[in-house]
Order: sequence, then structure tokens, then C-alpha cells
Amino acid sequence: MCGIVGAVAQRNITPILVEGLKRLEYRGYDSCGVALHVNGKLERARSTARVAELEKQIEKEHLSGFTGIAHTRWATHGAPASHNAHPHFSRDRIALVHNGIIENHDELRDELKTLGYVFESQTDTEVIAHLVDHMYTGDLFETVQQATKRLVGAFAIAVFSRDEPHRVVGARRGSPLIVGIGDGENFLASDALALAGTTDQIIYLEEGDVVDLQLQRVWIVDENGKPVQREVKTVHAHTGAVELGPYRHYMQKEIFEQPRAISDTLEGIASITPDIFGDKAYGIFKKIDSVLILACGTSYYSGMTAKYWIEAIAGVTCNVEIASEYRYRDSVPNPNSLVVTISQSGETADTLAALRHAQAQGMRHTLTICNAATSAMVRECELAYITRAGVEVGVASTKAFTTQLTGLFLLTLALAQIKGRLNDEQEAAQLKAMRHLPSAISAVLALEPQIIAWAEAFARKENALFLGRGLHYPIALEGALKLKEISYIHAEAYPAGELKHGPLALVTQEMPVVTVAPNDSMIEKLKSNMQEVRARGGELYVFADADSRITSGEGVHVIRLPEHYGLLSPILHVVPLQLLAYHTALARGTDVDKPRNLAKSVTVE
Ligand code: F6R
Repeated sequence: MCGIVGAVAQRNITPILVEGLKRLEYRGYDSCGVALHVNGKLERARSTARVAELEKQIEKEHLSGFTGIAHTRWATHGAPASHNAHPHFSRDRIALVHNGIIENHDELRDELKTLGYVFESQTDTEVIAHLVDHMYTGDLFETVQQATKRLVGAFAIAVFSRDEPHRVVGARRGSPLIVGIGDGENFLASDALALAGTTDQIIYLEEGDVVDLQLQRVWIVDENGKPVQREVKTVHAHTGAVELGPYRHYMQKEIFEQPRAISDTLEGIASITPDIFGDKAYGIFKKIDSVLILACGTSYYSGMTAKYWIEAIAGVTCNVEIASEYRYRDSVPNPNSLVVTISQSGETADTLAALRHAQAQGMRHTLTICNAATSAMVRECELAYITRAGVEVGVASTKAFTTQLTGLFLLTLALAQIKGRLNDEQEAAQLKAMRHLPSAISAVLALEPQIIAWAEAFARKENALFLGRGLHYPIALEGALKLKEISYIHAEAYPAGELKHGPLALVTQEMPVVTVAPNDSMIEKLKSNMQEVRARGGELYVFADADSRITSGEGVHVIRLPEHYGLLSPILHVVPLQLLAYHTALARGTDVDKPRNLAKSVTVE
């Protein structure tokens, strides 16, 4: 989603701004731009193409400067067009970029129009630029503190003024913003990754902070205008992980990285102990009587899978809620519940808001399973388990999902241990099974050629159904999500027992039905559901286990996974579904890593 980079230096900063935008590209965007202070004037370049095109434009126009801001935009208010791209100017005096959504933009726009401001875009951002200009006192830091008080909604902004050449001011509320400290130069960004290679000295601004960035000074005030010291952390953002290497797409690379990602996630875990989740975990796990999982999208499906584990293995009640629904629902808070947020980015606006909503309701025990160690989600939760998937660039989440499942299975075992439901022998057996996961996944990845053959047939379809039961119903949901988001084929998933309650009406010869069919206690039930499909002419594509007695025949295609993996089977069975989506999208020629309308990190509501 939107990205911000800003700099104040004594050298030309365009390479830093452009490189920063490139590092944020993976988050998804539809336009980009840069503004610089050049000889007492504001100059800018904006583009609806890739950052590489913007770079060419900057070179062509010989744009360079010591102070500036840059942005990648993911459209919310106003179409993806040059005039809506940031930075926005006000009266050629103020330049501003913004992440987030300003909810009172209509009201402010009307007010500013009556004051004579002319709007060139449909964005909520231009409203902030004009507001800052209108309130400008000659001291940008002071002005931004006052102006942001008038904003309702979520924002991270970076702004500079024609009249103060060596100053950039930043402010955040609801959207992340960090400061990078340099030697006689300072930086701003929405993510430390943007500054990798420029500085590793990072300050994470807190809610309501406003920062004054000058050459030799970084000055921060909190939401009450009180000067505050924020800790400077050394952050080694993963620069190398953004390289594509021998792969055609990041998604493909990330699917194939899963054995490594899982073994990294399990590294150092010699035994099951609550400490894995933090020093205070033992006391908290002892106290809690239930688990409430909050997440969105793919992360929500990993939560759904965990519900089956947590209830069956640990015997603890587990509810899973879509974060964007939970935050607006009048639910009954249980202070003895462990609130678990799951997030790859750790910055998803809905999940963060749901977490804060739960906390505001008195639910103090919070844990996050997250892939970004320095994210807001980790900072705001009492306990954390950091998955070590590495940077995930492809918009469609793959290795983040399987590492989340790995972390959630460890959580299940830790809870089971505390509740007296995991003896030493069981612990050793489960850990052994987990450690074998990387090689089991490698064996599944070797099925790729068979999956490519299926993908060719799928590429000609416009609809698909996915079926699963029990633990594998969330895996069917995840398979359908992967297919729809990158190949644009309409795909739905159902628990197979629900077929006859409605979706069976859709089944014809034209409907491929992907069935996740591990050899577990539900297999006989699932076979009956498959018969229901065949009887209506539907074509079955079955992912079975080696030892199951499902055979290929007319209208039934079977790929066998090398082994049945018991409770951990969802981690294996999702992998061929990821590959099926990937190769189908490839065959349809879509933009696999940057599917239309989607962003990697959803930092707006
Ligand atoms: C789908 C996908 C999204 C994310 C969702 C939550 O492939 O990636 O559905 O899972 O936007 O994002 P995180 O996990 O960053 O909170």
C-alpha cells in the first residue's frame, strides 16, 4: 500500500528517495511521485507507471535537491491518475505526502474552498496540504502540530515548505512512520526497509508524534506537544531478500522458500515452553480460559486452522474473528481470554484496530504471531512470536501463511502443556513431526510438473469450487483466495458437507471442483461429497495422500501428496494449492506479484 520516504541532507537525495520507493514497491501501488526543494522553489515529478519510469523522468528533467519527499500511492480517494498522485502542493509553498485516510476531508475541503483554495485532485491528501498552508506561521513544525489536530482519521504525513529549505516535518496517527538517523542528514519513511542501505539507526514514532527533521537535529513531540525521547534502534532491514534470484516471480520464489522459512521459524526451539512467546507467557497462559484470534485474509485462515488445533489438542475454547468485523461489533469481552492477532506485515489497519478495540474492552492479555519484528502489532502486544519467513514481496501471501501455522501449532502445544494435556512423549513426537516439515514440504514441491498440467485446464475456466472438511476447510478457503486474487478466476470454498445445502446447484461439467482430501477421519464423508459432485457431471481435482484409496478415473484427477501428515497436514496441503494458483495465473498472463487492485500491506481501513 502507500509508502513514504523523506530526506534532509547536504547531498542530492533523489537516489535515496527513488531507492526507498523501489524498496516499498512490493507493497502495491498505482502511482508514485517525488518533490524536491530546488533553488527556493518546489519541483516535482509524478507518474502512474512504475518507480523505474519515475526515475527516468527525474533524470530527464535533471531534478536534484537536498530536501524532499516521495510517495507510492494506492488509490482510495480519486482514481490512479497523475493529478491524484502525491506529493500534493499548496500554493507552490507546501509539499506533502500522506498514507491513511482522512475521514473529515469533505468538511475541510468545503472550508478551504471558501478561503479560496483551488483543488486539483480528488484526494483527501490535498486537503491536508492546503490546511497546512492556510495555518502556516513560518514555522512548519509548529504548524503541523496545530494542523493535525484538525484531522479525523488515520495518517502518516511528510511535509516540507518552500520557505524552510532544510526541514522536513512528519506526523503519525494510525499509520506507521519511522525516522532514520544519519550523519548530518536525517530521513523519514513508512517502513525501515525503505532506508536499508542508507541508515540502520531507526526511531519508531508513536501514535500522535510529530517530528522535526533538520540536518543536525531530530526533535519529537508527543500528541500533547510535549518533547519526548524515543529510543533509537539498530534495525537490519533485509536488503538481500528483495532480490528475485533465479525465479520468475516473487510468489514462486516464496513458495519454494517454505522449507527454509519453516526451519528458520523453528530454529532454537528445543522443547515446548511458554517462554517461546515471551517472559510473561507462563503466567498469562495459566490464567486464560479461552483464545480469541483476530486477523484478516490469509492470516484469518491460519487462525481458522488454529481453532481446530487449539480446541482439539489444548482443550481451550477458541473463537476466530475477521478483524474488520470484530472492531465494529458489540461483542461480549472476556478479560480472561488470550487475544491473538495474526499478521504478516504487523501493520494491517483493521487488525491493529481490532487489537486496540479488544484492549479498550479490558482484554489485556495479547499475543501476536507476526512476521515483522519491529511492527506496531509486535510493539502493542504483550507477547509475540516472530515468524521467520523473511520479507514477503508477492502480494499473495504464501510462506507467511505456513510459518504462521507453524507458530500457531507451537502455541497450541504450549497451551496443551499448561492445561496438562501434553506429556513428554507427546511433546517429543510433535516436535519431531514439526522438524520433519521442511523435508515433507520439499517433497510436495516436487509435484510441480503435475500441477502445471492441471493449471493449463484451469486457465480456461472462469469459476472453480474448493472443498475441504475439518482442519482442511480453511485450507480450501485459502486455496480459493489464492486462485481468485492472482488469476482472477472466481473461486469459492465450502466445507464439503455444505454442498447439498446450496452450492451443488452450481456444479456442471464446466465447474472444476478442487478437493483437499487428506487421509484423515473425514475421508469417507468426503468421498461421499465427491460422489455428489460426480453425479452432477462436475470434474474433480483431488489432492489426496499417498495411502488413500482415491483413484483417478473419468472426471476424477488425483495428485497424491507423498505422505499423510496427521494434525500438521494443513501445512502440507496448502502448498499444491499455492502452486495451482501460481501456474494458472501464469498461464492466464496476469501480473502474479502485483494483482490488480490489491496491495501488500493494507494500512488503511
Ligand atoms: C492474501 C493476503 C491478504 C493478507 C491480509 C492480511 O494473499 O495476503 O489476504 O493476508 O491482507 O495481511 P497481514 O497478514 O499483513 O495482516
